[in-house]
Amino acid sequence: MSSYILKFVTFNEVYLAKSWGWLNDVEIKKLTNTPDFTQMQQRTFFDSLPREDYKVWGMECNDFPIGVVGLKKITSTSAEYFGYIGEKNYWGKGLFTFILDFIMLEAKQLHIDIIYLNVCSDNQRAIRAYQREGFIVSTQRDDLIEMTMRVA
Ligand SMILES: CC(C)(COP(=O)(O)OP(=O)(O)OC[C@H]1O[C@@H](n2cnc3c(N)ncnc32)[C@H](O)[C@@H]1OP(=O)(O)O)[C@@H](O)C(=O)NCCC(=O)NCCS
Repeated sequence: MSSYILKFVTFNEVYLAKSWGWLNDVEIKKLTNTPDFTQMQQRTFFDSLPREDYKVWGMECNDFPIGVVGLKKITSTSAEYFGYIGEKNYWGKGLFTFILDFIMLEAKQLHIDIIYLNVCSDNQRAIRAYQREGFIVSTQRDDLIEMTMRVA
């Protein structure tokens, strides 16, 4: 794992363009439960940044853009984690440990107690990574699982 150096950077135009491609990939769209969206809607979202209740970062591995992570629905006590590695050859390499380290640091700076996430119940890779790092299932529906973790 030491050969992978992850950095979390400003979500800029590069990531705007990359995320259009990543989230329109059929497999990633399904895994991330992403609804249909237009380039104009994406631009409106981008122009709304930065926002108090929403933080997003581009993720670089060895200086190469590979994905997006963030915290949304930020309140004084909680926030929803979201994220995806858009470059498929980086899946399953143990990177989630480092992604969560970063997110936890950000959550601490925001003085948040709880982070939670929603994951499709058939996304076994993601569920496994989340459970390994200490997320606990808080709500289970047929198609979607909510998981929660205390910010330590
Ligand atoms: C979900 C995601 C962030 C996890 O990060 P990651 O770096 O790939 O995850 P890790 O390698 O740290 O851990 C994956 C775990 O799943 C296991 N795994 C890998 N491929 C798997 C598969 N096809 N089915 C089931 N488990 C799998 C790994 O063995 C590992 O478990 P282990 O540590 O117990 O061995 C990343 O895979 C991703 O972004 N995937 C595509 C989009 C997505 O699903 N986003 C999340 C939406 S909620």
